[in-house]
Amino acid sequence: MLTTPALPGLTVVSHPLVQHKITILRDQATPKKIFKELVDEIAMLMAYEATADLALEPVEVDTPLETTTGLRVAGKKLTLVPILRAGLGMVDGILRLVPSARVGHIGLYRDHDTLKPVDYYFKIPSDGAEREFFLLDPMLATGGSAVSAVGSLKRAGARRIKFLCLVAAPEGVKRLHDAHPDVPILAAALDRQLNENGYILPGLGDAGDRLFGTR
Ligand code: PRP
Ligand code: URA
Repeated sequence: MLTTPALPGLTVVSHPLVQHKITILRDQATPKKIFKELVDEIAMLMAYEATADLALEPVEVDTPLETTTGLRVAGKKLTLVPILRAGLGMVDGILRLVPSARVGHIGLYRDHDTLKPVDYYFKIPSDGAEREFFLLDPMLATGGSAVSAVGSLKRAGARRIKFLCLVAAPEGVKRLHDAHPDVPILAAALDRQLNENGYILPGLGDAGDRLFGTR
């Protein structure tokens, strides 16, 4: 894991497998099926890092030979919140690692002309204050969608939120950290910049279109 002093709040998951898979994901020749599988696998590897600080509590367990004390994750179930649509691609991989996690949804799309997020759906578990949330979106570009989604989660009572993305632009990292400095940002890659249409360079294109074949 790497931190960048110029971009507080950001941690880049530098694991070799994550970096290898991100490179294949960027390739425009990678077909939809493989793209989807890679998003899934990278999300799972990132979740391994993102869960490293989960609190544990002791629990008694009967082995076939004797009783011993083991450890289990304490507190309410982790809650995954994909930002529709592209965030959906990250859910199943994380659920394979944490099958008991709950899943909420935030519906947002970025207006093509203004690049501002437009809200259309929100549903999370009701006891938000007691849960840890992983907000999921492959792309952190201008940061407008992430800032809006974190704001919605907080208004619904969420207090502990991490933002997991695959590719981040410096502009989006700064904007999200300025608006919500309490939200750690995990990315698989920190890219160079945004283009004039708000796309990340070098990036991987439109994540939703590549996941769902809607170009
Ligand atoms: C993409 C992406 C993020 C957003 C990032 O979604 O999945 O949600 O853009 O851009 P931002 O940081 O500038 O807000 P898009 O709006 O294309 O919607 P979709 O997932 O429905 O395709
Ligand atoms: N959304 C995407 O899917 N890709 C980008 O590069 C920027 C926003």
